[in-house]
Amino acid sequence: MLNPKTIHQLSKILGSNRLNKNVSLASHTTFGIGGPAELFYEAQTSEELIKAVKAARELKIPYFILGGGSNILVADQGLAGLTIKIKSQRLKIKSPKIIAEAGTPLAKIVKAAQEHSLSGLECCIGIPGTVGGAVAGNAGAKNQWISQCIKSVTILDKSGEIINLKKDNCQFGYRTSCFKSNPSKVILEVIFELEKENPKIIKEKTKQFLEARSNQPKEKSAGSIFKNPANDSAGRLIDAAGLKGKRVGEAQISPQHANFIINLDKAKASDILTLIKLAQSRVKEKFGVELKLEIQYRV
Ligand code: EPU
Repeated sequence: MLNPKTIHQLSKILGSNRLNKNVSLASHTTFGIGGPAELFYEAQTSEELIKAVKAARELKIPYFILGGGSNILVADQGLAGLTIKIKSQRLKIKSPKIIAEAGTPLAKIVKAAQEHSLSGLECCIGIPGTVGGAVAGNAGAKNQWISQCIKSVTILDKSGEIINLKKDNCQFGYRTSCFKSNPSKVILEVIFELEKENPKIIKEKTKQFLEARSNQPKEKSAGSIFKNPANDSAGRLIDAAGLKGKRVGEAQISPQHANFIINLDKAKASDILTLIKLAQSRVKEKFGVELKLEIQYRV
């Protein structure tokens, strides 16, 4: 719990009408799960995002940056400190480049690329969330990743400087980057470098990526819970361990795809965690494989 003086100082910087207390995070995550944020601020622009992060750092307030909330499980007791939701979504098209602020919905850049006959972002079709979240987690499908068409990423670094990181310095890997492993590097804006392509080819590629997602459940979830182990599928392993459809409270291992846990209505984060641990222990026991979380658990 923050002391009232600190909260007062923060609200002087961010504006008392913009800083909210005890905001339920359930409605800000695709899981529909999570307790309240002690303090909650929506950054409408990159400038507001910089201001909020710098203020939290100066006042030594723990802060957490939330994008589309699509790859995260928030604890039932909520989050202490400041949760900053990124809503900055300026988008510039300088064909063949697209420049997007971190809070831009991924769907928006996928659509913009299609409209301008630019290829490279087809693998992101149907993926929820924001540009910032997708770049931090190097989202993708079928052995293609968003990082493949990134030129550079502008960040606020640990010391408060704004720097431009070339793609090769972002440590992209399977569902990871330096932004995921080091959250003090705050993504502000991303420059994508795409390729001019025949719209028919873009349409066909997009269709194939959509088809690859057709076995995924429509219910509330956080996408794939676990990363795939090398040369295997977490979904296949959990399925083969006999856990498809397993329920704890109102959480269920999807009967459709076992690497998804779905919230049937009012599931608790603790129910999801029970299923996560069950899947990990059964898969370890049966196949000797350790499943690693892809989603972030925030407490
Ligand atoms: N499988 C089963 N049972 C299941 C689920 C899958 O036997 O319950 C089998 C499938 O039949 C298939 C294999 O496992 O033979 C792989 O399944 P799928 O094609 O669904 O792909 P995946 O490896 O489970 C990955 C990504 C998805 C991405 C899809 C499509 C990870 C962890 N998952 O899933 O990404 O959409 O490929 O390309 O890398 C995400 O990361 O959040 C995500 C949804």
